[in-house]
Amino acid sequence: MILTYFATAAKGTEGALRDELRALRFRGVRATRGGVHFEGSIEEGWRACLSLRIAMRVLLERGTFDASSERALYDGVRALSLEDVLTPSHTLAVRSSASQSTLTHTQFIAQKTKDAIVDRIRDQVGHRPSVNVEDPDVLLFINMNRNQATLYLDVSGEPLFKRGWRMAAGEAPLKETLAAALVRLSGWDMKSPLLDPLCGAGTIVIEAAQMATTRAPGLGRSFGFERWAFFDKSARARYRTLHAKMTAEEQPIEAKILARDADERVLQVARQNARRASVRIPFLGESLRPYPFDTPRAWVVTNPPYGVRLAQAEETNRALAAWIDRASGITFGILSGDPQFESLVRRRNTRWLALRNGNIDCKWLVYET
Ligand SMILES: C[S@@+](CC[C@H](N)C(=O)[O-])C[C@H]1O[C@@H](n2cnc3c(N)ncnc32)[C@H](O)[C@@H]1O
Repeated sequence: MILTYFATAAKGTEGALRDELRALRFRGVRATRGGVHFEGSIEEGWRACLSLRIAMRVLLERGTFDASSERALYDGVRALSLEDVLTPSHTLAVRSSASQSTLTHTQFIAQKTKDAIVDRIRDQVGHRPSVNVEDPDVLLFINMNRNQATLYLDVSGEPLFKRGWRMAAGEAPLKETLAAALVRLSGWDMKSPLLDPLCGAGTIVIEAAQMATTRAPGLGRSFGFERWAFFDKSARARYRTLHAKMTAEEQPIEAKILARDADERVLQVARQNARRASVRIPFLGESLRPYPFDTPRAWVVTNPPYGVRLAQAEETNRALAAWIDRASGITFGILSGDPQFESLVRRRNTRWLALRNGNIDCKWLVYET
């Protein structure tokens, strides 16, 4: 059976996620604001959870209907069958979003949706599942847009940036999903060297190394669908087969991946993270300076420090800008939260994008030298 999925993405990374889905040969791929639609079997949903680096969540669409009133919302949800996923012994939680719709109160929308779901199950089997907001077996999303409601099941469970390898955070670590988006957006060829000279906890280089080995990011964690009703012995056996197949797809790394940071403490964290992520990266304590690459092409992908989170950023930013101006044969991908950064570089950027890092508005700048 062909199912419809929606992989959610951080603002600005939808295009990168679309390209990732296409590269991984998913079907029906179509980007929109907030994420990317795709289609496939139930196993394709599992494969998406295991293999997508840029998506925040993988959602499975269960129905779309008009919901211009409270009654229409309740009836629309109640008409949808969820018995394959949810029984009275499962817990559930519903989250919601709404735009340009008559019903605007998201908490109310979530509550009504939950009522319709549990009422249907109680009428059918005599008991109702209970709510667990913190750690539900089944997480649902109801999205209202121009009075059209869409009910989704969260296939991924915990958001996909939680890969299971991060030990402790550095001072201002990037989300793994954003780091992966940056590496893809930089256009890195996975053969030439890639350096993060301001690597912090190592998020960018760890993601790059896993990408180069084609190691699926989700191999070391569990997912929401594993707690659903239909995930019985035979489904688990099918999932194990898929997991083993994807584990075997790992390849030796061709490219040289390099990481530097002036702060030895943060490098300790980076080394631990890399070990847990099963990648080998030499992390060296060194202040920023132009790196003498000996290949015709090289990539520098980095997230320089900025005032909101880190002091004494200006000198580093000036040194980085001076390197960009003098370099040749290097593609620089810079995620900067400092609005002044661009003005420090005399060279014009090749392309740029507005991105957010946590709650900080950032600019992604690519300089091809
Ligand atoms: C915004 S953080 C990078 C965070 C990183 N992307 C991560 O995910 O953990 C910037 C890093 O630059 C380092 N740094 C600042 N100035 C530096 C310099 N002049 N030379 C080397 N490292 C520097 C800081 O120690 C900090 O770890």
